[in-house]
Amino acid sequence: MVFMKIIIVLFFMAAFFFHQIAYAQEFVPNYNETLVPEYNLPKLLQFSNGEPILSIDDWNKHRSALKLNFAQQMYGVVPKHSIEMQVIEIVEHQNALNGLALQKQICLQLKQNDHSIMLNVLMLLPKTNKKVPVFLGYNFYGNHTTSNDSSIFITNNWVMNNPDLGINSNKAGSVSRGKLAYRWPFDEVIQRGYGMVTLYYGDVDPDFDDGFKNGIHALFGNERDSASWGSIAAWAMGLSAVMDYLADDANVDANKVAVFGHSRLGKAALWAGALDQRFAMVISNSSGCGGAAISRRQYGETLARINTRFPHWFASNFKKYNNNENALPFDQHQLLALIAPRPLYVASAVDDRWADPKGEFLSAVAASEVYRLHGLNGLPVNEMPKVHCPSMGAIAYHIREGKHDILWYDWQQYLNFADMHFR
Ligand code: GCU
Repeated sequence: MVFMKIIIVLFFMAAFFFHQIAYAQEFVPNYNETLVPEYNLPKLLQFSNGEPILSIDDWNKHRSALKLNFAQQMYGVVPKHSIEMQVIEIVEHQNALNGLALQKQICLQLKQNDHSIMLNVLMLLPKTNKKVPVFLGYNFYGNHTTSNDSSIFITNNWVMNNPDLGINSNKAGSVSRGKLAYRWPFDEVIQRGYGMVTLYYGDVDPDFDDGFKNGIHALFGNERDSASWGSIAAWAMGLSAVMDYLADDANVDANKVAVFGHSRLGKAALWAGALDQRFAMVISNSSGCGGAAISRRQYGETLARINTRFPHWFASNFKKYNNNENALPFDQHQLLALIAPRPLYVASAVDDRWADPKGEFLSAVAASEVYRLHGLNGLPVNEMPKVHCPSMGAIAYHIREGKHDILWYDWQQYLNFADMHFR
């Protein structure tokens, strides 16, 4: 009997495994604009009962329902009870970056009953007595990869293997120190009067499908249903936890915190910005499917593909929409609209077709309607701008040459956008 049960379980495990492999091999992304299906975007300025939204008050009423819908059907609902946060240690270095910057490394402990996690936050700030605006965003492989500065701590948490960075066995080490420094132009950001705050996303929730047993999920117990939160919602919560800390940091202007992220971390930044209105600006760098891009276009990465490859990113309800995008009760332009009226930047790269640059742009165009309701101009253009021709209103968009990455060109635009809205 027991033997039979083991055989049956093994059979199902093998079937699941081969299904995943087969799916991954079969999937051929559509990169042909003429094959994008016809679709109707859900209306932005309409209550779910069909009544029109005519005022900011109406929008705010609708906004809560829309946010809940995104949570239940896509990113997942976060458990209600709160967790404790404690600042364990702050290590300061007054002369970082050759004397240009104040560096702080803050160890935050998040705790619930007997479970706790530690977030290691790296801050680089201009040396001034004034409180400064900051950019807050995750890094992919640990704080130490952002700079050659040997005082930056190395995470003990699981990291994704990456032979190019010398990361094997899911363990970070000094070989990867500074390897991604090109993504973090600390000197230039500081010279422009901004601070930069970053942490490793795996400190909040390691990015693999572990059945939600580790990371921040573990602080909330094991009870789950089809609407429960996935990793993107967990990373969004981590950003809000850091915001809780920044609100009290003597060097930071907490009214001018721009949350940003590249790719999967751009998806997390958008969801964090939608949920937490303390983020005064939101920047999505190539966030693609499940981020800024319109899901109904099915261009590049699709819902079926993202849910199969990354089953832990979203609530399991989201899988209902695999190959069934038209059944979605919303689309990603509505996620962007949840950020209104705060300044929002959406950026793409030409060779990053997987993230559907046009879908990201169209989403920003559509979201502009809600900015206009707030008396703002949204994105100033309706036609996709040429490469390296950023367009900036309350919503900004650019597309740059090159691949899926966050580069100095992107940062230059984000700094200009911050100057436009924060100065
Ligand atoms: C994969 C994934 C994307 C994601 C990207 C990244 O390509 O399919 O959805 O944005 O990884 O995070 O780099």
